[in-house]
Amino acid sequence: MRRVLGIETSCDETSAAVVTVDAAGAPRVAGLAILSQDVHRIFGGVVPELASRAHVTAIGPVVDRALAEAGCGLDDVDGIAVTRGPGLVGALLVGLMFGKALAWRRGVPLIGVHHLEGHLFAPRLEHPDLAPPFVALLVSGGHTLLLDVPAWGAYRVLGRTLDDAAGEAFDKAAKLLGLPYPGGPAVERLAREAEGPAPVTLPRSMLGELRHDGPQRYAFSFSGLKTALLRAVQASADVPRERAGLARAFQDAVVEVLAAKAAHAAAALGRPAIVAGGGVACNQALLAALAAAAPKGCHVVAASPRLNTDNAAMIAAAGAWRLARGERDGPALEPADTLPLPGLLAAAA
Ligand code: KG4
Ligand code: ZN
Repeated sequence: MRRVLGIETSCDETSAAVVTVDAAGAPRVAGLAILSQDVHRIFGGVVPELASRAHVTAIGPVVDRALAEAGCGLDDVDGIAVTRGPGLVGALLVGLMFGKALAWRRGVPLIGVHHLEGHLFAPRLEHPDLAPPFVALLVSGGHTLLLDVPAWGAYRVLGRTLDDAAGEAFDKAAKLLGLPYPGGPAVERLAREAEGPAPVTLPRSMLGELRHDGPQRYAFSFSGLKTALLRAVQASADVPRERAGLARAFQDAVVEVLAAKAAHAAAALGRPAIVAGGGVACNQALLAALAAAAPKGCHVVAASPRLNTDNAAMIAAAGAWRLARGERDGPALEPADTLPLPGLLAAAA
């Protein structure tokens, strides 16, 4: 499997990529096209039906663009990897149908990829030597997962969010602060402008659970933090002046809990690296906090922002690994709004 075409349409990015795989199995981006749908901005969030329609319009040209950038044609592709879930079913369906049709026409194997496994493989595109074991923190708009990864394709869930995802919390905080969607990058930019001490300290939800060896030790919760931010905004005597400080207070609270739990897990399990993936892993304050909290000798690895937010190169990378193991999907492959990670191990170590 030398060249894999990836397709990603799970939410509001239409993306296609060509990834080449070397003899050692390391994936590299040869061509990548990402079209971020602008239509959702005026609604302040993703409108599923509009997302599906925009994918239909864009998918053909986006695939052509990725192939052109890679300097190859469909005839040079050895396999096709497409996101099958979790995500918006109507949006997923567009990429899935397109991928199936191409695979059938070319007579090459097709593999359906779990979106979060894609995020997990993204750092490998720029760090070819990256290999388990490691602890992974996957933080996106829809998910917050702390995993132990003893081997590629073998995942033990250490903790997840009990309510809002980390990215969702950033998006909601942005709304409260009058910032545009998607909120994460806007909150990070504003927080950087904060001067002096933050006007408030917001709660570090579930951080105390780290002290107990209970089932919630590595669990997260962000909905209370959003309410705390709302109260702080309402209580502020001068929101325009304190906005940057409030953004910083919010970001500090999210980042501290994520970093502390990931670092604790890496130390407890003796893992030599923490891999951060998903849109929120673009956040430089999070990466700095992870590096500061990580146990001695433990590296923090993340992809660059273009590969951390939704893109098809990560789907091709994960798909290439599964195709190389001989896994195949047939024409009956269906999209799934929720989908367990493949290769889940029992909870206890
Ligand atoms: O992985 P992703 O592109 O899509 C999903 O699978 O959800 O993640 C998007 C999420 C959004 O919630 C966005 O606000 C957040 O990632 N995000 C960030 C940053 N860049 C994107 N959150 C915090 N800081 C950032 N710099
Ligand atoms: Zn994602």
